[in-house]
Amino acid sequence: MSSAWAWYVFVGTVVSILACFWLIMFSKRQGPSPDEIAGSEAHVWDEDIRELNNPLPRWWLWMFIGTLIWSIGYLIYYPGLVVVDGVAKWSQVAQYEAEMAAAEERYAPLFERFSAMDVEALVNDPQAMSLGSSLFANYCAQCHGSSAQGAPGFPNLTDEEWLWGGEPAQIEQAILKGRNAVMPALGPALGGESEVTAMVEYVKSMQDGQDTSSPAHAKYMMLCIACHGPTGNGNPIFGAPNLANDIWLYGSSDTVIRKTIMEGRNGVMPAHEALIGPDRARILAAYVYSLSR
Ligand code: HEC
Ligand code: HEC
Repeated sequence: MSSAWAWYVFVGTVVSILACFWLIMFSKRQGPSPDEIAGSEAHVWDEDIRELNNPLPRWWLWMFIGTLIWSIGYLIYYPGLVVVDGVAKWSQVAQYEAEMAAAEERYAPLFERFSAMDVEALVNDPQAMSLGSSLFANYCAQCHGSSAQGAPGFPNLTDEEWLWGGEPAQIEQAILKGRNAVMPALGPALGGESEVTAMVEYVKSMQDGQDTSSPAHAKYMMLCIACHGPTGNGNPIFGAPNLANDIWLYGSSDTVIRKTIMEGRNGVMPAHEALIGPDRARILAAYVYSLSR
């Protein structure tokens, strides 16, 4: 906090507390005088309920004074006035650092035990899997979904289909180094609108086998085969999806397939090595590996 804001908070807090004291000192202690009662005729409801300037109930007043005294104690103990530290020397940063150090210490033996295990063993270790699940919620769920089932553009990690391969080492690689998929924009190479439409139809029909009579077949063999393979089964080296099944990364509608072919796609899985380190990445790889089985 800049020092101007610190003083702003200081002045605001002190003035409010003083104002509360003033309010108590100057608020009425005695009950209403006979004159007041006589003069209250205009403020009578239901015949005998009068509005009068009555003193605060004792218990309420003492509670109010109690909270004021407590607030002063609090501000002496904690750094609530910002410009002074407070006798407890407490700070958010110090508390955070202490908690992080305690967590490191607590988890260090756990990570050491896990690092001696292979992925198969990790998958069968309930403690490793529960840690994997909470790591996933922290670092991966915002893109892959809390149940890892993905969304358009973000692959489902619980199914049998893998863009980049589903072996533990490949999953670990994806997590550590990231993945960068490049589907080039092929609209211009295909020719005109009608060629693109034919290609969309062709792609959609690939799950029922290739229609070699389609004019798009020859184009596919020329433009797409290098990445998606001769039968459309994809290629994990490029992260090129299998087009010959009913699992879609971006969606199965004509519009979406057309957009992919016309404009290309560039799905990016960010590298997590620097963020989470190799120990957590291995546990996550085991966790993700376990999801599809
Ligand atoms: C250079 C390699 C490459 C070529 C050539 C290529 N693709 Fe792709 N294609 C990819 C990659 C990689 C992806 C995944 C993109 C991503 O993950 O963002 C992809 C994705 C797609 C998708 C989306 C699939 C889904 O599950 O949503 C379709 C459809 C597609 N390609 C069709 C084609 C067609 C048709 C051709 C030929 C006209 C073609 N691709 C040529 C690499 C290629
Ligand atoms: C910012 C979004 C984002 C975050 C965060 C993210 N991912 Fe991904 N991830 C993606 C995208 C997008 C792809 C697909 C890239 C492509 O198109 O090929 C992907 C791909 C993957 C793949 C490859 C899937 C396959 O079919 O081969 C794995 C495994 C994976 N992510 C695991 C994780 C794990 C574990 C985490 C948490 C540490 C994580 N991801 C965090 C966006 C993200």
